[in-house]
Amino acid sequence: MNLICPVCSRELSAEPHRYVCSKGHCFDRARSGYVNLLQRQRHRQRGDDAEMAKARQRFLNAGYYQPLLDAVSRYAVDAKCSRIADIGCGEGWYSCGLLQALTDSGIHAELTGIDISPEILRFAAVRASQTDLPEPNWAVASVNRIPLADASCDCVLNLFAPCEPAEFCRILDRNGLLLRAVPLERHLWELKALIYDTPYENRPVCSAPDGFVLEHLEWLDYQINVPQDDLHALFAMTPYVHKTSPEDAARLLRADSDALTVTVSFGLLCCRKQ
Ligand SMILES: C[S@@+](CC[C@H](N)C(=O)[O-])C[C@H]1O[C@@H](n2cnc3c(N)ncnc32)[C@H](O)[C@@H]1O
Ligand SMILES: [Zn+2]
Repeated sequence: MNLICPVCSRELSAEPHRYVCSKGHCFDRARSGYVNLLQRQRHRQRGDDAEMAKARQRFLNAGYYQPLLDAVSRYAVDAKCSRIADIGCGEGWYSCGLLQALTDSGIHAELTGIDISPEILRFAAVRASQTDLPEPNWAVASVNRIPLADASCDCVLNLFAPCEPAEFCRILDRNGLLLRAVPLERHLWELKALIYDTPYENRPVCSAPDGFVLEHLEWLDYQINVPQDDLHALFAMTPYVHKTSPEDAARLLRADSDALTVTVSFGLLCCRKQ
């Protein structure tokens, strides 16, 4: 499950400090361990920044979303997945958690984490380096052009990140599994109600993307009790952080209790390549 060259699509070989293809295109590995394979983009997409990465790491490390990681791991272990691509992997909490679950079940798995944000991949690479799991490949790239060969994966993980069904079909092997998570209507409702006068429900798409059949749809609905510090981290890791005026954001500080009970509501779509 080697990365491929973004210029000529040949396989990249990993050397200690860089990746090289047989035509001599080479890409330095950052000190933390990721490689930037993003070619010049027509429309610059940014992805999450370092502040969002830090907030996401703090919140996820606290275990609030453990039920989703458990559900994802259960499907991947049952399907004996061993070649995983985590697309829009963020700071790697799910990537490393899934690798751990597969390893604990005696499955020797390899994982490639793809994200458009170098800042966030630095966190992912550092996280993985602090474990004794098989070292993932971390590559900065867009979901529109994933630097993996055709049919090289048996599982694509796509959690709360942009979805590009044609690319997922291309990199998945026959009968490959797509595990995709989306926020449902009332996800984080109480947080939104605290910030906005008129909060809106999410409008999730819970059907299989083109080229896939939906095998199973799992709903995860539960409540979490979030103390003030983690509440700020939760706000800072959501897209609302960029869409909220400073006045509305200040309402978080005025929350009158030490903790807020917040609804978590995810859909996990388990799809098979057709
Ligand atoms: C909401 S975060 C989810 C991260 C991770 N899957 C998780 O659940 O913790 C969305 C991620 O998608 C990345 N992203 C946004 N646009 C992207 C694109 N066009 N290609 C690849 N990644 C992208 C962002 O940088 C961010 O890390
Ligand atoms: Zn090349």
